[in-house]
Amino acid sequence: MAKHLRRGLVALSLLVMPAAPMLAQERESPQVATASEVDLDALLARMTTAEKVGQLVQRMGGRQRALNSRLGPDELDRVRRGEVGSYLHVAGAEPLRELQRVAVEESRLGIPLLFAMDVVHGYRTIFPVPLAMAATWDPEAAESHARIAAREASAAGLHWTFAPMVDVARDPRWGRIVEGAGEDPFLGAAMAAAQVRGFQGSDLSAADTIMAGTKHFGAYGAAEGGRDYAGADLSERTLRETYLPPFEAAARAGTASFMTAFNALGGVPTTGNAALLRGVLRGEWGYDGVLLSDWHAIEELMAHGVAGDRVAAARLALEAGVDMDMVSDVYGQDLLASVEADPALMAQLDEAVMRILKAKRDLGLFTDPYKYHDASREAAVMLSPEHRAEARRIAERSIVLLKNEGDVLPLAKSAGRIALIGALADDARSQLGSWRARGVEEDVVTLRAALEAAHRGVAFVRGADSRSSETGGIAEAVAAAQGADLVVMALGEDFDWSGEARSRSSLELPGAQRELFEAVAATGKPIVVVLMGGRPLAIPEVAEKADAVLATWLLGDEAGPAVVRTLFGDANPAGRLPASFPRTTGQVPYTYDHLPSGRPADPDLAKDTARYMDLPIIPLYGFGYGLSYTTFAYGPLAVDQAIIPADGGRVTVSVPVTNTGARPGDEVVQLYMRDPVASVSRPVQQLRGFRRVALEPGETRVVTFTLDAAHFAFWGQNGGWVVEPGIIELSVGGASDAIHGRTDITLVGQGRGRASPASTPVESSDRPAG
Ligand code: NOJ
Repeated sequence: MAKHLRRGLVALSLLVMPAAPMLAQERESPQVATASEVDLDALLARMTTAEKVGQLVQRMGGRQRALNSRLGPDELDRVRRGEVGSYLHVAGAEPLRELQRVAVEESRLGIPLLFAMDVVHGYRTIFPVPLAMAATWDPEAAESHARIAAREASAAGLHWTFAPMVDVARDPRWGRIVEGAGEDPFLGAAMAAAQVRGFQGSDLSAADTIMAGTKHFGAYGAAEGGRDYAGADLSERTLRETYLPPFEAAARAGTASFMTAFNALGGVPTTGNAALLRGVLRGEWGYDGVLLSDWHAIEELMAHGVAGDRVAAARLALEAGVDMDMVSDVYGQDLLASVEADPALMAQLDEAVMRILKAKRDLGLFTDPYKYHDASREAAVMLSPEHRAEARRIAERSIVLLKNEGDVLPLAKSAGRIALIGALADDARSQLGSWRARGVEEDVVTLRAALEAAHRGVAFVRGADSRSSETGGIAEAVAAAQGADLVVMALGEDFDWSGEARSRSSLELPGAQRELFEAVAATGKPIVVVLMGGRPLAIPEVAEKADAVLATWLLGDEAGPAVVRTLFGDANPAGRLPASFPRTTGQVPYTYDHLPSGRPADPDLAKDTARYMDLPIIPLYGFGYGLSYTTFAYGPLAVDQAIIPADGGRVTVSVPVTNTGARPGDEVVQLYMRDPVASVSRPVQQLRGFRRVALEPGETRVVTFTLDAAHFAFWGQNGGWVVEPGIIELSVGGASDAIHGRTDITLVGQGRGRASPASTPVESSDRPAG
């Protein structure tokens, strides 16, 4: 053990208990500590109230784009005085080792610090944005990305990421839709749990795992009008059935922390919402990990109008159950006064401190505070060829084929002269998305670079970008199109149109891109649109006039190769939309799982029904939609039993699926349910299972889902998850609006569920037919 490390541990030595024996296979490295070596009660007993408050303080060590920039002498003095528990916006094995050294060796109690950063879709190796990763419908891909992100982030001295972001987003005007898994709670829950597993691994004390920070609990995605930070006003049922399940799934997967949302729910700001934080999260779900505020959210309790001053804000947040104050320093400056004025708060302060100390213990920091500060590991793991290869594989899996008229795709290798039009094709920065951690544009292979490398005869013209209404480049784009055999157009949004505080009032192609598209379309050349961006867009003109459309989101470092391999058929697209694409902005919010109306939408405008007069009823592209270069056929949907007890029953649903085309491809088999008659009106469809299956040409595989009766539960009129007797309709298909088989089962008796059905995984498998 290094000398400085030995000295650093002296202060703790009296508190260290003999280590519990550890199985060899549990140990990832010889220095890894067991979780129970430190007597935290003894440590807490030695802490002054000021030191306790210090543990609740998270300060910024820099800014998102200037990491570590604030770690000057004054800051180090704070650490020495025990006034800080954690830093965010910091990175680097060496600088963080030094910062940790100051905490461990030069503060009275030597309690290590927690280092955190937003590692949302990769640390140095940048993966597709989360909305794109949800389009894989492949939780294993999401888990694998998080595992790699954790490996890189931990090598750079980090213990904690503020991810996954699991807010269900049903209004694509909300810019943060890019950060989550889209509109559906069941898909969102699967992606949430997978990422938690990936970041944390099976042992949080291993040197290459980090704490997940699931955010933003609980209804941030329901912000009114899609305006970021705006309040949400929801029925208890909608909150429980739609917005909370991904959080519940993350809690069950063992997320080490949650972050509270900025916004208010039903008038109660979440950061001061005891019913939600202590009641649901800690009480009902039994969650005992760290709960962190969002940035300045404790201070913002004053702006929300529920705290008159900082002392009141500190008290409100602590009483609501918030353990750590991100950046506002309200706890740091004003909690002490609250506790001194009301000693009854001490118990809550102790609880909060204990949860933070436990997190530090679970990471193994009391045993080896420097285990995340190995500069040689840092140098070795970043952007390794394996990480890049996985980034490309996941990018390919994220791509959704929206249209392919006349099978214009895949392109022949001898496709002739290609005009590549659109500034986004050459925009490396945008592929990194709004959270890029330590990703750099130099690492990105753009569509332009990849296409020029793969194909001779590519003429690139910017034409227009998504920022400016300048139309001066359109004539050159038209000329390029005229001189080409085929046009590939990169259209959509650059990275800065989506993300935090990036709400839009219009979902149309921004800038002069519509004019550009119309002008190029008028040439009559075949057009393949590569649609980029962080949200569903309203692109009716593109859907009508382009020959093919690929939704490629913002795909990270390997964006270009992934798109080019898909264009030429080296990869067969199988992504599916995790959120509906509207026809026009006025159609949002629209979700596939809407409630039935007493007057269901009818195309006949002479009837008064639930629809717009000036729009078709359905979205442009529905939830779960996506095409392939091959075709699939479904056999009959079967159940192992048609009548099951509502209390404890199980049903196995199976369907054979065949690749009827000439290319290998993946089908995303989707299982939906409907409860047609219940004591409350139930959605017309709800996702209850999905499985991405790889099929060779001519191959048939039988896909099976096993559901408990509790998967058919809903939030009852008197609260709680109820399973009522009666028929449940099951349907299966390749999209919410491409249903190929249906059957009914009957529930008998009454049942109750313990958790939200959308948060509860459904077992699935696939096997050869016959
Ligand atoms: C505010 C954002 O809402 C949150 O998602 C993020 O983790 C923090 N800032 C820290 O950067």
